[in-house]
Amino acid sequence: MGSAVRTIFWKDDAVVMIDQKALPHEERHLTLTDYKDVIAAIKDLTVRGAPAIGVAAAMGIALGTLHLADSSREDFKRAFHKICDQFSQTRPTARNLFWAIERMKARFSEAFLAPTDQIKRILVEEAMRICEQDIAINERISMNGRSLIQDGDNILTHCNAGALATAGCGTALGVVSAAWEEGKKIHVFVDETRPVLQGARLTAWELMKEKIPATLITDNMAGFLMKQGRVSKVIVGADRIAANGDVANKIGTYSLAVLAKEHDIPFYVAAPLSTVDVSLQNGDKIPIEERDAEEITMIRGTRVAPEGMHVYNPAFDVTPSRYITAIITEAGVVFPPYREGIGKIAQRPKK
Ligand code: MRU
Repeated sequence: MGSAVRTIFWKDDAVVMIDQKALPHEERHLTLTDYKDVIAAIKDLTVRGAPAIGVAAAMGIALGTLHLADSSREDFKRAFHKICDQFSQTRPTARNLFWAIERMKARFSEAFLAPTDQIKRILVEEAMRICEQDIAINERISMNGRSLIQDGDNILTHCNAGALATAGCGTALGVVSAAWEEGKKIHVFVDETRPVLQGARLTAWELMKEKIPATLITDNMAGFLMKQGRVSKVIVGADRIAANGDVANKIGTYSLAVLAKEHDIPFYVAAPLSTVDVSLQNGDKIPIEERDAEEITMIRGTRVAPEGMHVYNPAFDVTPSRYITAIITEAGVVFPPYREGIGKIAQRPKK
């Protein structure tokens, strides 16, 4: 299974990423040679989706370190950690971001006694490895999840957990593509995903590219469709999964999960183990990013709310694990009780 989209990669000592802000109108790649531009790209959603954010941060850290001037070993170390700190302040909910930063830090301390030029190359290699591993992990998630999809399924998805959200073929959408490639006749309902419209702009674009039958709906239509019996499965990605299986994902996921339970519809989450945060016992302490009010008050440059209106804009919500039928990972499909299942497969960052 491969992906037609190359969301992010390393080329000639630069980070190349598809400009997700320009989609679906224009398919263009940006070549970033300054780590500060990678930070800006993560913050403004040029690159988004938890696994892709992790890869971008790893590459950004490698890029920033590559351009550090010759200095004393202590200054070099201080400058490296300063770069890492700046990345850790970009998007607080995505566990993969912190996982990738921890991996880069671990590699740095292992290599610390080597000449600085060598450390720089080691960090580039580590970032590329994180990227390659994400591609392989996506494939495994897709293969592990495809048997959960049956011929004739109408699958509802929210936000974008496809190739654009990862370095590979995607998580939730990877499962959908794998089922489609197996020859299963499926159809996808795509939630537009207010306020940033990752569903309408990105998931719709990916599904059309792959020629998978799909229908775009607004978020508030999902319940009606479920009541009509038109949705047989829900599958979404995740930004962070606590030790008990509570899942933080794009705002609106929780409502979908409650609706799915009411209508007896299986609700699946697909995510790599790098999204799992075993340091959190449950979802209550998952940090929830709040984004700019203008994402809500403005639509593509046009103001839709009165000037000065108070706005609350959490980018994610937390779905309690009791609403989740199964979590699909690269290590297999985990069913409740999640604490036990996650405990068995959760990994510490690899060195
Ligand atoms: O704000 P975004 O677009 O980064 O949010 C993305 C999501 O919520 C995805 O569902 C999640 O990161 C999983 S991506 C494989």
